Amino acid sequence: ELQETKTSEYFSLFHHPLDYRILLMDEDQDRIYVGSKDHILSLNINNISQEPLSVFWPASTIKVEECKMAGKDPTHGCGNFVRVIQAFNRTHLYVCGSGAFSPVCTYLNRGRRSEDQVFTIDSKCESGKGRCSFNPNVNTVSVMINEELFSGMYIDFMGTDAAIFRSLTKRNAVRTDQHNSKWLSEPL
Ligand SMILES: *[C@@H]1O[C@H](CO)[C@@H](O)[C@H](O)[C@H]1NC(C)=O
Ligand SMILES: *[C@@H]1O[C@H](CO)[C@@H](O)[C@H](O)[C@H]1NC(C)=O
Repeated sequence: ELQETKTSEYFSLFHHPLDYRILLMDEDQDRIYVGSKDHILSLNINNISQEPLSVFWPASTIKVEECKMAGKDPTHGCGNFVRVIQAFNRTHLYVCGSGAFSPVCTYLNRGRRSEDQVFTIDSKCESGKGRCSFNPNVNTVSVMINEELFSGMYIDFMGTDAAIFRSLTKRNAVRTDQHNSKWLSEPL
């Protein structure tokens, strides 16, 4: 039905399902960022038909192997599912993925202006524990405020410990109480 209205367009990447959960609108640069399996896309809001910019950001081979050995689903679990995209500063986004059940984060350079066509990822990643869920099939909720990241998610491999975590901070990283049912409980 939507296709018939000609206001929408079907989109796929290399004919694989995108498996995306999050979008971020960037109204300064007129882009929309999409986090999916092993890829982050940047689409032009003014012309969605334009070829998107994209970065390929897979989990390391070792992590993928470990993930499979742990009995996780190779297709829907053992990849780097990007679940956090936040604007960090004028030039950089902060992004995190499930990293084949070993969360990772890094900075992504989107340039100063859209015309620059810059979209590159910082090769050195940091641990995404407390920033992004291990399991890509449960939600991670995040917000960036003054270069501090607040994430709500399960912070452990087993998915039993739910918390809101403050990180990327010059202050101490903090988390909500572990055994306090008034704080955050079963956030699925
Ligand atoms: C949008 O992008 C497509 C593909 O690059 C191009 O063919 C089309 O002319 C563009 N439309 C507008 C309104 O700029
Ligand atoms: C934004 O943050 C990144 C990562 O810390 C840094 O490399 C870059 O220079 C910063 N850009 C600006 C405009 O402050």
